[in-house]
Amino acid sequence: MSLSAEQIGFFRSNGYLLVPGAMEVDLCARVREMMWQALPPGASLARNDVTSHVGPFPDADRSADSLHFREGYWTLPYGNTTREPDACHTDGHPFQLGVVGLIDDIPKDSGAFKVWPGSHKRLYPTFQLRYDQPRIPYYDHLPSFKGIVHTPEYLAEIEKLNSDTEAVECWGSTGDIVFWHHREAHMAGHNYSDVIRQAVLADFWKTDFDHRRMEPAQGEMWRDWSAAMQASDGRYSTTFAEAQRLG
Ligand SMILES: [Fe+2]
Repeated sequence: MSLSAEQIGFFRSNGYLLVPGAMEVDLCARVREMMWQALPPGASLARNDVTSHVGPFPDADRSADSLHFREGYWTLPYGNTTREPDACHTDGHPFQLGVVGLIDDIPKDSGAFKVWPGSHKRLYPTFQLRYDQPRIPYYDHLPSFKGIVHTPEYLAEIEKLNSDTEAVECWGSTGDIVFWHHREAHMAGHNYSDVIRQAVLADFWKTDFDHRRMEPAQGEMWRDWSAAMQASDGRYSTTFAEAQRLG
């Protein structure tokens, strides 16, 4: 797959890019079939009984899921519930490029991946490390701190993003994919529809990533990216932005 200058420019400016029709729909159908086949015997979720398609997954179904289909790929409809506000985060593990693949149609309001456009540029300099994050081990007798160490600048910026930036919902059709920058603020959308959100997630990185992940998060943020990305002026048309669900 090669991307146009406009697609690259849009990604550079907004930290995400929807690419329609990137996957074969027949293969997507096979993956959907595999997910149903992977349900444990006696699962509460029954394919032909849509009244059973309401989340969250019971613990028994979740623990019998060695391939994590039901952890990461399916978001069941929430059922009759009050709406929750959106809240963004960034991922803790090291990677460079995230990809969400829509293996079924994902209409508006049905759990599509949500991004905060432009957040990658605001958050990138608030990290200590370029791709990874420092962590504090947990001790039973010292319970106040554990896990990822966020800088105060990062926490303040996440709070600002939640109030000053409207999330973009990456809804779409079977076979579409979403590329997203590793410092892009995002969330898995809430599923207020009556259909299961079916998507696959993958992370990518360059071959020298093992060395780069500990570099400080300063300097030119695009220095590991392609020459086309580094040279991009970040421009795109209004029509293109609309097709990207922006504005
Ligand atoms: Fe995430």
